[in-house]
Order: sequence, then C-alpha cells, then structure tokens
Amino acid sequence: MSGIADWDARFDGDDFFYGTTPTAFLTDNAGMIPRGAQVLSIAEGEGRNAVWMAQARGCAVTGMDGSAKALAKAARLAKQAGVTVDLQQADIANWDWRAQQYDLVVACFIQFAAPPLRDAIFAGMKQALAPGGRLMLTGYTAEQLTYRTGGPGNPALLYSTELLRDAFDDLTILRLATYEKDLSEGDGHHGRSALIDLIADKPA
Ligand SMILES: C[S@@+](CC[C@H](N)C(=O)[O-])C[C@H]1O[C@@H](n2cnc3c(N)ncnc32)[C@H](O)[C@@H]1O
Repeated sequence: MSGIADWDARFDGDDFFYGTTPTAFLTDNAGMIPRGAQVLSIAEGEGRNAVWMAQARGCAVTGMDGSAKALAKAARLAKQAGVTVDLQQADIANWDWRAQQYDLVVACFIQFAAPPLRDAIFAGMKQALAPGGRLMLTGYTAEQLTYRTGGPGNPALLYSTELLRDAFDDLTILRLATYEKDLSEGDGHHGRSALIDLIADKPA
C-alpha cells in the first residue's frame, strides 16, 4: 500500500476502514488538545479525528489527505455530526507547510512515508506550528510486526523512541511513550497493538 490510488481503493465502499470514532490517542489525551484551537490534521483520512476535534474540543480543523475517496467520507461524517471541517485534497509531498500557522498539528498513523519523505513531513509539521503551538503524533513501533493488527509491514516505516526524540529535539517534549493497547478502530486497526505517542510544544 503506497500510492494514492491504493488508498483510494482501500477507502472505496461505504464502510469506514478505520471506523468513525476518533483514535484512542486523541481521546486518551483530550486535555492536551487546546479548546478552540486552529488545527492541521495531516493524512486525516475518513474524518474520524477531525470531526471529533471539532465536536468535542471546538477546534477549527483543516484535514488534508491525498485520497478523494477518504475525504468524501470525511465530508459525510462532518455533515452527520453537524460540524464544519476544512477538507483539502493534496499529496503531502507538495503541501505548503508555510501557508498558515496552527495552534496544533495532529498526525495519526501517517506511516505511509518512507524515511526521506517522513523527514520532510516532520520538518514541515514544525514549520506549520505557530510559536508555542503543539504537535501530537501517534503510530506503531517495530514491535507491531509481531501483532500485524494494523499499520505497515515495512520496518523502515515504523517509529522508535530514539527516532522521534531525535526528530523533535528542538521542541519541548511533554509525552514520548511506547505502550501496548487493544485498538478497535474499524477493520484497519483491530487488536493488540504496539504504539508510540509524541506530544511536544514548539518554543513560544
Ligand atoms: C493509516 S491511514 C490514517 C488515516 C487517519 N489519520 C486516521 O487515523 O484514521 C493513512 C492516510 O494517509 C493518506 N495518505 C497516504 N499517502 C498520502 C500522501 N502522499 N499524501 C497525503 N495523504 C496520504 C491515506 O489516504 C490515508 O488516509
């Protein structure tokens, strides 16, 4: 699973592949999401996280993703929830990180990106943060390869504490934790999972 066409194929059909409820990382850390924040959610997918942040935290969310199929579902989910979300279709490789600065940049399960693109995305996320802004990222560690309950099978795409600490050592790290948890997020993330979270603030 690598190109946008593959993601469109995954999201074809009526079901929400990752479900319609927000990822546990966000609900478990809800208090870290500033109320009313201007949020950029990258690779937002089918809208579950953006819609919840708008609904539960009163955020103004821009959700970008490469898949038109995913964003069509995100629009449907937002309408059902009665919230407005700014949905932008773009290849993240071409995203203009400097166009706007956000209070919060959210990246949930963006492990489609090989290391050179991943480095560019990490740098871009920092650029997109306003001074004092917050970054929230979650994904899988290499231990996930033993579970195979979601995420990529390519070890080069998985995260470690060292990788994230090195990439974000210019931010103030508030949470950097590896842990295991049972996820129930559609067909996409289902069962025991080896996860890693990062929450960090850009200097004011
Ligand atoms: C594992 S899904 C996660 C979706 C969402 N963040 C969530 O937690 O439900 C990865 C997402 O990355 C998107 N994606 C993959 N390659 C992309 C690219 N080059 N540019 C933008 N989005 C991309 C896919 O369309 C998909 O929605």
